[in-house]
Amino acid sequence: MAPINPIRVTERAQKLASEAIKAGDFAIDATAGKGRDTAFLAQAVGPGGHVHAFDIQAEALRSTNNLLEAAGLLERTTLHHRSHAEILAAIPVAHHGKVAVALFNLGYLPGGNLAIITQPATTAQALQAALKLLRPSGRLVCVAYTGHPGGSDESDSVLAFALQCEQAGDTVEKIGYFPNPGKPWILVVTKKSA
Ligand SMILES: C[S@@+](CC[C@H](N)C(=O)[O-])C[C@H]1O[C@@H](n2cnc3c(N)ncnc32)[C@H](O)[C@@H]1O
Repeated sequence: MAPINPIRVTERAQKLASEAIKAGDFAIDATAGKGRDTAFLAQAVGPGGHVHAFDIQAEALRSTNNLLEAAGLLERTTLHHRSHAEILAAIPVAHHGKVAVALFNLGYLPGGNLAIITQPATTAQALQAALKLLRPSGRLVCVAYTGHPGGSDESDSVLAFALQCEQAGDTVEKIGYFPNPGKPWILVVTKKSA
């Protein structure tokens, strides 16, 4: 399997996410950052759908808010200024088990404070929680980076989660994964049907 071009990785992740979304769906952006993924998901769910986006940095949520406002997508999104490790508590119970897609783009905010990065333990917690929120045949897409300090440990925790999903009967793809390549890769988990 060939490594993925890092510039294309986010587009690829968006495409993989969109394959599992239809108009009117609920979706989660677990790492809002500059808001590009949130806007993409908000576009994909349409006016009858809803996106919950999370980030721990106010700066990231400001960028996301501005992008959504400019695109006319603000009304179909809820921005949560809290860790994605808390998504089970943050998402209304009525949406549990009904989420079509959860998208993670790990690492740091581009152009922001490089010391604020996603962490293996909270990422693992968030991945588990997101899987619970998905509907049957819903999809979790996670872009993991191995080139920055701490990235390799986090990638290992994503890999451990992938193994658990495989053992539970979910469909797992590890696109572009090589042990220790310094390149991003994409985990795609399609939850087993009920
Ligand atoms: C690579 S950026 C995300 C890019 C974004 N999806 C976009 O389209 O621009 C990673 C983001 O994860 C955020 N982050 C770090 N730890 C987090 C946590 N525990 N919960 C939620 N977001 C977190 C960072 O603040 C950063 O904005």
